[in-house]
Amino acid sequence: MTNQDTAAAQPAISCRGVWQVFGADAKSKLADALDRSGTKSGGDSDVAAQILREDGLIPAVQDATFDVMPGELFVIMGLSGSGKSTIVRCISQLLQATSGEILVDGENLVEASKSRLIELRRRKLGMVFQHFGLFPHMTALENVAFPLKMQGQNKPDRLARAMEVINLVGLEGRENSYPREMSGGQRQRVGIARSLAVNPDIWFLDEPFSALDPLIRRQLQDEFINIQATLKKSIVFITHDITEALKIADRIAIMRDGKIVQIGTPTEIVLNPVDDYVREFSKDVAKGRHARVASVMRALTADDKTPDDPGLRPGMTLEAALARCISLYDPVPVHDETGKMIGVVDPAVLAAALQAEEA
Ligand SMILES: Nc1ncnc2c1ncn2[C@@H]1O[C@H](COP(=O)(O)OP(=O)(O)O)[C@@H](O)[C@H]1O
Ligand SMILES: [Mg+2]
Repeated sequence: MTNQDTAAAQPAISCRGVWQVFGADAKSKLADALDRSGTKSGGDSDVAAQILREDGLIPAVQDATFDVMPGELFVIMGLSGSGKSTIVRCISQLLQATSGEILVDGENLVEASKSRLIELRRRKLGMVFQHFGLFPHMTALENVAFPLKMQGQNKPDRLARAMEVINLVGLEGRENSYPREMSGGQRQRVGIARSLAVNPDIWFLDEPFSALDPLIRRQLQDEFINIQATLKKSIVFITHDITEALKIADRIAIMRDGKIVQIGTPTEIVLNPVDDYVREFSKDVAKGRHARVASVMRALTADDKTPDDPGLRPGMTLEAALARCISLYDPVPVHDETGKMIGVVDPAVLAAALQAEEA
C-alpha cells in the first residue's frame, strides 16, 4: 500500500487544477481571474484567489492538484473552513467544480453524464460523514441494506450482504436496534457499514470520528485500520486531528484557506513542514514516535566504516532507533527484512532529527 508499490499504476483519483469558487458568476469571474493572474501559464494561483476575494467571492478550493493511488489512504487535513469538505464534494460530484479536471480511474467526471454520475455514486463511490445520517425508523440492518435496495437487489441477498458488513464493523447482535437505541460510536459503525455495503472502490470519509469521545475515536481508528488492511480501498479521509492523520495516513495533504500547501508522508509532514502553518499542526507531536529510520538514512560511502550493528530497520521509529545507538558515534548500517544492508544512519543525524523544531 506504499507509494512505491503503486507508482506505475493509474491513479484512483486524479485532480488537476481544481477550483471551487462560491459566489455569483463564479465561473466567468474565475476564468477572468485566471487570465489576469496568468495562473494557467504558470502564474501564482494566490494572485487569482486574491482577485476573487476582493470581488467578494470565496475560493473554497484553489487550484488543487494531486493523485490518490489505488489502495492508498490519503488524508486531507486543515483547520475548519480550509476547504476540506468542499474538495471531497467536488470529487464525489456533490458539487460541480468551477474549473479543473477530476478523473476517477481515468474517467473524466467533469464530462460524465448525469446518469453516469448517479451510477458511479451508487456503485463505485462510498461516503461517510461526521453526522451519521441514519434513517431513524429503520433498524441498523435495514439502514445498512438500504443502498442495496436502491441498487435493486432482492431482499434475501441484501440482508445477507448487510449482515456481512455489520459483522465486519463489529456490530453483530445489534442489527435489530434502532439508531436511537445506539451510542454515537455504534451509530457511526452503522454509517460505515452502510457505505461499505455496496463495496465501493473509492471511499470518502469526512471527519467520521470527530464527534466521538477520544476513547471511542481511538478504538474506531484502530478498527478502521484493520478494515482497510483487508479491503484496501482507495480512500480520501478528512480530519483536523493530526494524531489521527499520522496514525492512519499513507500520505497527508495539508489545506489552508482553500489551498493545498503540502503533500507528504506522515514523516515528511512532521520532519519537514513547509511553513509555520504546517509546523503548528505537528508541534505537539512526539516526532520520534512517527518518523521512521528510512527518512534519515543515506547511502553507504567509501569513507564509512560501520563497525557496530545496532540492528536498525528502515521502518523503525526514530525513537526506537536512537535507543539502540545512543552511545554510538560512527554511521550504523540499516538492514532490510532479508538482512541486506540498504543504507547507513549517522547517530548524530538521528538525534538531530528528533530535536528538530522541538521548541
Ligand atoms: N455552499 C457554500 N456556499 C458558500 N460558501 C461555502 C459553501 N460551502 C462552503 N463554503 C465556504 O467554503 C469554505 C470551505 O468550507 P469547507 O469545505 O466546509 O471547509 P472545511 O471542511 O475544511 O471545514 C468556507 O469558507 C465555507 O464558508
Ligand atoms: Mg468540513
